[in-house]
Amino acid sequence: MNNNELLSFSDEQAHQPCLPINKKAEPWNLLVVDDELSVHEVTQLVLKNVTVLGKNIAIHSACSAEQAKELMGSKTHFAFALIDVVMETDNAGLSLVKWIRETKQDPNIRLVLRTGQPGEAPEQDIISRYDIHDYKEKNELTAKKLFTLCYSCLRTYNDIIKAKEMQKMLRHSEKMEAVGRLASGIVHDFNNILGVILCNVELLQQNPFQNEQQDKKINSINKAALMGKDIVNKLHSFTTNKLENKESVNINDIITRIDKVIDQSSASNTKLTYQFDSNIWLTYIVVSDFESALFNLVINAKDAIQHNGNVLIQTSNCVLDDDFCQLNPEAIAGEYVLLTVSDNGKGISPQVMQRIFEPFFTTKTAGTGLGLALVYGFVNRSSGYITLSSELDVGTTFKMYLPKTLPNH
Ligand SMILES: Nc1ncnc2c1ncn2[C@@H]1O[C@H](COP(=O)(O)OP(=O)(O)OP(=O)(O)O)[C@@H](O)[C@H]1O
Ligand SMILES: [Mg+2]
Repeated sequence: MNNNELLSFSDEQAHQPCLPINKKAEPWNLLVVDDELSVHEVTQLVLKNVTVLGKNIAIHSACSAEQAKELMGSKTHFAFALIDVVMETDNAGLSLVKWIRETKQDPNIRLVLRTGQPGEAPEQDIISRYDIHDYKEKNELTAKKLFTLCYSCLRTYNDIIKAKEMQKMLRHSEKMEAVGRLASGIVHDFNNILGVILCNVELLQQNPFQNEQQDKKINSINKAALMGKDIVNKLHSFTTNKLENKESVNINDIITRIDKVIDQSSASNTKLTYQFDSNIWLTYIVVSDFESALFNLVINAKDAIQHNGNVLIQTSNCVLDDDFCQLNPEAIAGEYVLLTVSDNGKGISPQVMQRIFEPFFTTKTAGTGLGLALVYGFVNRSSGYITLSSELDVGTTFKMYLPKTLPNH
């Protein structure tokens, strides 16, 4: 697997339980905007217990365009809206549509206009300019037709969201590939430069100066060059694809061996919990790289906890099926060992998420920004897959999928 076959960001990846931010499948949110109470009652009656693409429908009601704007200003993501044209004014519905597309700038929500005044269809211009999914007269919408309309809106909405998600992932993969190429160029050039510095320092140290000040300066050049080498080495493991030192291992055993060190790495305000699947499969990885990936994830989780909080380290077996791979086009279906590290810390903003695996990207004053680049490099070299889901002020979950292997690989 190469760099661009690796990464996905999503809130809906939770095939396995995860304590802090475990979420049930969110329902589709439908907004009914109509000044006639009976329309809300009928829609509730018809769609209340309906399931579309595996999710229920939550129906929200607004009796005017103004009320609809208030509801749409909340955190709820609406998948589609059934909007009456004539409400508080003759064109309240049309101005709501304009507001949704132009002011709120929501291009995804499916909009269906309905009117009680037959023959008064809005002009073609409005239908195409505001991407109106359908236009119906109220008496046309029998129970059966309402369901068909609802189904077609949700299907289209789902396809739009999926296509945009894939585009985002593709752009991200291309960016990571470019960053990888850049990093590997830097590694090569800096290794040469640092080699020259360290070699000359070594020669100078063989014949110390009589002057203590000069020796101190040489030592500090040596120290700085070694620190530089350490960074270059980390970058190197982000970019290389070495196969040596891989072993078939049980990750429970590795975590148990180093759990004391992990505990010490977390502050007293953090409670660390382990949940192991005792029948965990083996995976074929470089043990030291796994250890350092785990440390980086735990230290980040700990850093994200501002007051008291929990970090959960879980292991489990997991099958990535075709449904998962359809949602995550860069994942390869198969059997995986899953390591999940979750925290209920401050969460990650969408802006930070976009850049999180880039080498040298950090939001910390004393961070190098290489921790997650190392995790990324490790997962990539192990032919694995990594996902990240996060919500501000709720928490973050990293899931590292490592392919299952057989004992005598
Ligand atoms: N669990 C998390 N919760 C919140 N933010 C996180 C979490 N993990 C990573 N981040 C964000 O991702 C950024 C990059 O993380 P990364 O581990 O690569 O570098 P760093 O932690 O900043 O520095 P270093 O690991 O080199 O000390 C962090 O600065 C932080 O903003
Ligand atoms: Mg870090």
